[in-house]
Amino acid sequence: MLELHNLVKAFGGFHAVDGCSFKVEQGQILGLIGPNGAGKTTLFNLVAGAFPATRGAIRFRGEDITRLRTDQRFHRGLVRTFQIPHEFGRLRVLENLMMVPPAQHGERLLANWTRWRRVRAEEERVRERAWDTLRFLELTHVAEERAGNLSGGQKKLLELGRTMMTDARLVLLDEPAAGVNRTLLRKLEEKIQRLNRERGYTFVLIEHDMEMIEKLCDPVVCMAEGKVLIEGTFGTVRSDPRVLEAYLGETVGEPAA
Ligand SMILES: Nc1ncnc2c1ncn2[C@@H]1O[C@H](COP(=O)(O)OP(=O)(O)O)[C@@H](O)[C@H]1O
Ligand SMILES: [Mg+2]
Repeated sequence: MLELHNLVKAFGGFHAVDGCSFKVEQGQILGLIGPNGAGKTTLFNLVAGAFPATRGAIRFRGEDITRLRTDQRFHRGLVRTFQIPHEFGRLRVLENLMMVPPAQHGERLLANWTRWRRVRAEEERVRERAWDTLRFLELTHVAEERAGNLSGGQKKLLELGRTMMTDARLVLLDEPAAGVNRTLLRKLEEKIQRLNRERGYTFVLIEHDMEMIEKLCDPVVCMAEGKVLIEGTFGTVRSDPRVLEAYLGETVGEPAA
């Protein structure tokens, strides 16, 4: 589904991503771990198209997308969420979902009066889909709440919900567990698992919560200093001395493995 070939991202002379190659197969939930500053978020930015790669190539569903814009990647079913949720705080939860453009189908409708029937029908369809999404996430009780008032965990669920408003094939999740309480964390895990099994979503999951990685992810890729250190099952990666060493060398944050 996704192939990264020798990706490099240089900021000035510093290589935040320094020659990364790995593949994500359809149906996987691939875990991406590594100490703070390893280059994980930068790698997501490259895959999503937030900025161009300095070198290397990205293939998505058989197509070279290295030079495509973010929106072009999005329309091909490549969707990301952010380490810090990007909700529209003053809009209601339902409205937040309704604002997400559909990724793959749906023509662009001009909102002029000759088309109002179709615009209305389209809006109804989107509203129905937003309600479906809220039911799936068990968030119907906060549908009319301003998104800014949600708890950290509910905002993460809403982020996941935004991907469900599109026809996502591959979803990049950047630290979905950060700032989420235990109860909502279990719920978030269950939803990710169900989206994977029942709706065919492929995921790449950046996470420091090793319980979540162990529960959801196979394979696991560990990055350090912009490079892929090792790829394998959670057990293999966890017991690799290079991984422990990478975390011990970390200057910010807690050793997580
Ligand atoms: N826009 C940028 N300009 C300069 N340096 C950056 C930029 N974005 C990230 N970096 C640096 O790249 C390295 C990797 O960062 P990041 O990808 O956020 O790591 P991770 O997500 O693994 O914690 C860090 O040293 C960070 O300071
Ligand atoms: Mg990060």
